[in-house]
Amino acid sequence: MTQSILVIDEGTTSTRAMLFAPDGACLGTAQRPLTQHYPAPGRVEHDANEIWALTLECAQEMVTKAGGPDRIACIGITNQRETVVFWDRRTGQAVAPAIVWQDRRTAETCHDLIVAGHEPMVQDRTGLLLDPYFSGSKMGWALANWPQLNELGDNLAVGTVESYLVYRLTGGVHITDATNASRTALMAIEQGGWDSALLDLFGVPAALLPEIVDCAGAFGTTQPDLFGAPIPITGLAGDQQAASIGQACLAPGQTKATYGTGAFILTNTGAQMPRSKNRLLGTIASQIGGERCFALEGSVFVAGSVVKWLRDEVGLIDSAEETAALAASVPDNGGVSFVPALSGLGAPYWRPDARGAITGLSFSTGRAHIVRAALEAVTHQSLDLKATFAADGAVWADLRIDGGMVSNDWLAQDLADMLELTVERPHFIETTALGAAMLAGVGAGLFADLESACAMRGPTHGFTPVANPAAASRVRAWEVAVAAVLEAAGGRE
Ligand code: G3P
Repeated sequence: MTQSILVIDEGTTSTRAMLFAPDGACLGTAQRPLTQHYPAPGRVEHDANEIWALTLECAQEMVTKAGGPDRIACIGITNQRETVVFWDRRTGQAVAPAIVWQDRRTAETCHDLIVAGHEPMVQDRTGLLLDPYFSGSKMGWALANWPQLNELGDNLAVGTVESYLVYRLTGGVHITDATNASRTALMAIEQGGWDSALLDLFGVPAALLPEIVDCAGAFGTTQPDLFGAPIPITGLAGDQQAASIGQACLAPGQTKATYGTGAFILTNTGAQMPRSKNRLLGTIASQIGGERCFALEGSVFVAGSVVKWLRDEVGLIDSAEETAALAASVPDNGGVSFVPALSGLGAPYWRPDARGAITGLSFSTGRAHIVRAALEAVTHQSLDLKATFAADGAVWADLRIDGGMVSNDWLAQDLADMLELTVERPHFIETTALGAAMLAGVGAGLFADLESACAMRGPTHGFTPVANPAAASRVRAWEVAVAAVLEAAGGRE
C-alpha cells in the first residue's frame, strides 16, 4: 500500500501538519493558530513550548488520518526562519521566549556594528546584512540579557525552529539544515560551516549550536511514543526555500514570490553564491549530498500581515477574503498610498526603525481605498524588488507566486499588470509544504532527486499582464510615501 508523506509547516502565525500522497495530492491538513506576544514596541515573541505542543497535536491528527504510523513513509519539516529558540537539553523544554524574525530589539546593536565597519565582512561571509532580522544578534542579545540561559551551562541548546522540532521529535538530535543555518548570520555560506569570527562578533558560543546538515537525508526517527511507532525525518528546509522547491525553481534564473506574513522573493542562482551590490541577500536555496545551491533573496517584512492587522487591530474589514471585492469596488486608490512598515522596512531599504504610513487621505477616502492601497503596497514592494534584482543582474522572465495571499485574484492580476510579467499561480498554493514533502521524499528515497520530485507539482494558472494607465502615477505616489517614511525614520542609512 502506498505510504504518504507527513509535512510539518511551522509558520509565523500558525502551525500546520499536512499529508501528501507521493503524486502530490494533499490528503489532509490540521492547523492551529499560534499566539503572538508583543511585549514592547518592536518586540515579537513566541512560546516555543506552545509551538511544540501545537505541532505534536497537528501531526498526531494527520497520523491518525493516514491510518497510523506505518502508513507514513517519512516526515518533512519546514518553518518560519531566523526565529530563535532556547531550550534545556535534558528536558527539551524551552527556557526563554523564542525571539521571532520580526523582532527589532537588536536594531541598535546592528547599527553600532555597521558604524564599526563590520557589515562588509558579514555580507561577504553570510550573504546577509547587519539587520535585526537575522538570528545571530538575537542569540547574542538573549545570552547577554537573560541570566537563566547562562545558568544552564552545558545544558543550554540554541537553534532555529526546525532544529527545536527535530530535537523534540527525536528526543535529542541537535541539527539544523543548511537553509535555516544560512539565515543566522553565523554561517559562512560558501564554505558551509559556522564561522568563528561571526560567532565572536555576535557573542554566540559554537557549543550551543546544532550541527549543520543537508536538506534531504536520514536525520533521525521520531520517539516511538509520539505517534505509536518511529517515523523517519528525511526533509528539512526554511519555509521560503521550501516554497522555491515546491515551485520547481531548480534552475538558475527561476524565481518565486511567496506572499504569506511577509513577502519573500527568491531567484535561483545555482552553484554560484550571489553577491548583491544592491542590498539583496545571498542565501542557501538547498543543500543535498553536500552540494549547495544558492539564491538571491528579497525579503519584505509585511504582506499578508497588513491584511490581518486591518482586520484584527483596526477593524476595517471582517475577513481577508473581502479585500479582493473591496479593492475592485473602487476605480483606483483615490490618491491613497500605504507604506506597511509595521515592523520596519526590509529589502531593499533595510530600515528597522521605519514605521508605517498611510498618505493622501481626504474626506472622499473610504475604507475600500485604504484596503486597495494596502494590497497595492504588496505589488509596489514587489516592483521595488524587480528593479533591485535586475540591478543585480537577475532579470525575471516570469514570476511564480504562492502563499495564502495570492488566492486573491485581484492581487494576482495587479502583480501581473504592474510587474509587466506573466504571473504563474499553482492551483495548489501551499507550495511551502509541497517543497518540504518533495525534500522528504528525496531523503526517504521515494524520488531519485528533486527534479523527479517535481512530478508532485500540479497545474498552474497564468495571469497575463494588462496595461494599467494609472501605473506611473501610482509608482510616483508610492515613491514619495516611502521617501517620507524613510525621512521620518531619521534619514539614517
Ligand atoms: O524569514 C521569515 C519567513 O521565513 C517567514 O515566513 O511564511 O511565516 O511569512 P512566513
